[in-house]
Amino acid sequence: MFNLIRGTKDILPQDQKYWDYFKDNAFKLADIYGFERIDTPTFEMTDLFLRGIGIGTDIVNKETYTFLDRGENNITLRPEGTASVCRAYIQNGMHNDAQPKKLYYFTSIFRYERPQSGRLREHHQFGIETIGNNDPELDGEIINFAWTLLKKIGLKQINLKINTIGNKNDRNHYIKSLSKYYLESKWSSSECKDCEQRIKINPLRILDCKNNDCQNFIASAPAMVDYASKSTLEHFEKVKSYLDLSEIPYTIDSKLVRGLDYYTNTVFEITSDQNKSQNALVGGGRYDGLIEQLGGSSTPGSGFGMGVERVINEIISSKIEIPSKNREKILFTSINKKSFEQTIKFKLLARNNNIKSELSTINRSLKSTMRYANNKDFSHIVIVGDNDEKNLNYISIKNLSTGKQSNVNEKKLSHFLNKIQ
Ligand code: HAM
Repeated sequence: MFNLIRGTKDILPQDQKYWDYFKDNAFKLADIYGFERIDTPTFEMTDLFLRGIGIGTDIVNKETYTFLDRGENNITLRPEGTASVCRAYIQNGMHNDAQPKKLYYFTSIFRYERPQSGRLREHHQFGIETIGNNDPELDGEIINFAWTLLKKIGLKQINLKINTIGNKNDRNHYIKSLSKYYLESKWSSSECKDCEQRIKINPLRILDCKNNDCQNFIASAPAMVDYASKSTLEHFEKVKSYLDLSEIPYTIDSKLVRGLDYYTNTVFEITSDQNKSQNALVGGGRYDGLIEQLGGSSTPGSGFGMGVERVINEIISSKIEIPSKNREKILFTSINKKSFEQTIKFKLLARNNNIKSELSTINRSLKSTMRYANNKDFSHIVIVGDNDEKNLNYISIKNLSTGKQSNVNEKKLSHFLNKIQ
């Protein structure tokens, strides 16, 4: 017997309603906000992600699924969506379209992480990217989109954290000061091997360390905002004003840095109050240098990725009621062999009317047909024929939610099928 690979999941038939509910809401909102769908391949050349996400990041260092294909090409399964979308933007000359180009995707993501509840090796992200404009209002709009979607879905206990990590210059100043602080405090002689590495290759990431021993040092580390230039601060103020106008509550977290190298200026995360570990539902921000880094001309961008499995866990644990979609579903059954053909005819008629319908097998007893109908959420059973084999005109409709049963003729059955379609 084969089992699932650790960190992967089947999405079983009974779970599909949550996925449909999520997608319906997400795709509808994307349309309302003026985004168009894009799908990119599951794998790309490894270099795209090395350059896009950054060599010093955990994702690139430890988490990618990378292999040589049979043509000796170095290939990586997509570990996030933004680099691929930017590659497609450049390759398809989308800078010639009206800007900003507003794109959304729903896609699987592969990261070789240590699996635990809410942390998978294959997960799905719904993401949006706005490329070609550096207005701070667009950052506000991106955050507004993520927040509105989670609220529409019915999540109540969510929190938004925002920060600015400035432009390249601001960051260089800040990193100098942060590194000095690290080396001068006792932190550098602590046991944290991760921070020892991070300070060498990606110092900003030391702010993200989850190690308990590092927390006190992180709390009193210099704040990024004190190293921000005037233009960075103005940009951040405008993002905040947009959020205030949208009446979206937020906290400023000066230690929020995110795990990918391409961010500039605005970064944000939306977390859930419900699940304490792996509680980030959305992460995103601005990435003004990424397109250039990937070989395009200097083009700003901003976006987010939303973890679909995590949002669905929230929907389930918060017991959010999923609106039922077209509950009308009929199970046709015939009492005897003679009425079987008649039953097939009625079932086809129902399907022609776009009503979900199935035919119960001829050998199944009425009792087991009932059980099947209840298990599979049928709304009605239509029974054709009765114990008198000559009586083919006997048709009975049973409503499974009210238990009401009524005898009808063929004309009335057609009328019923027209009415509920
Ligand atoms: P990210 O923060 O790495 O950002 O991932 C986005 C979201 O994906 C997270 O907030 C989380 O909900 C979910 N997620 C990440 N890793 C896992 C995992 N191992 N298992 C389950 N869910 C996970 C990005 O990927 C950026 N590309 C987002 C972005 C788009 N920034 C700008 N545009």
